[in-house]
Amino acid sequence: MAQDLWGEVDDYITGKLLPADPALDAALARNREAGLPAIDVSPAQGKFLHLLARLAGAKAILEIGTLGGYSTIWLARALPNDGRIVTLEYEPAHAAVARRNLDGVGLGAKVDLRVGPALEALPLLEKEGAVFDFVFVDADKRNNPGYLQWALRLARVGAVIVIDNVVRRGAILDSASADPDIAGTRRMFEIASGEKRWSATAIQTVGAKGWDGFAFGLVEQA
Ligand code: SAH
Ligand code: DHB
Ligand code: MG
Repeated sequence: MAQDLWGEVDDYITGKLLPADPALDAALARNREAGLPAIDVSPAQGKFLHLLARLAGAKAILEIGTLGGYSTIWLARALPNDGRIVTLEYEPAHAAVARRNLDGVGLGAKVDLRVGPALEALPLLEKEGAVFDFVFVDADKRNNPGYLQWALRLARVGAVIVIDNVVRRGAILDSASADPDIAGTRRMFEIASGEKRWSATAIQTVGAKGWDGFAFGLVEQA
């Protein structure tokens, strides 16, 4: 019941504030045809991420967890002409769909899509001297502690770090959870609570994708 209403309200918001977007619809259709799980951010959340990246004036974005590139499209559209997004995806099949989706909407040149475990790609990015203005963490939640620590290493002072799925229908409260993804996000919160370089909060969300939430915050001077 509540889920139906959350979904209807999301449809209302989307109908009012998000103009019809054939490129994004086509990406979701390709994801479906390829059998990808429908765990992309919702349209309203995608636009929220897009607006956050623009508010941050982001020219260099890092995304951990591409799936079919739905959130990548929203973020890439926030970039200026000379901006770039690096997006990390473990599953070659997901990355192949994302590549097609991104090229299909003409964003291919702005997107550096790297296939493999993110925890292997992140040290390479550091060696390359990459520095990011905006980081979106949305991959395997068990590695959220490592992803937050890498995000802090790779982000400039003043950057924004956003982490998806930090509430999981309240499951985040379960300190005895056998789910490594819940344990990982709880450890991320532990790290964040003692981390002076990240001034953060978390906002619970309901909508088309259920009850969940984003953690987000600003990277502060050490
Ligand atoms: N950000 C996407 C959704 C990402 S779903 C969107 O909103 O459109 C999470 C993705 O993380 C999946 O595609 C999964 O394959 C990927 N993933 C899982 N483990 C990973 C890892 N170790 N490194 C990089 N990506 C990983
Ligand atoms: C799920 C949702 C997500 O946004 C995600 O990144 C991973 C999994 C889910 O609902 O299972
Ligand atoms: Mg997510």
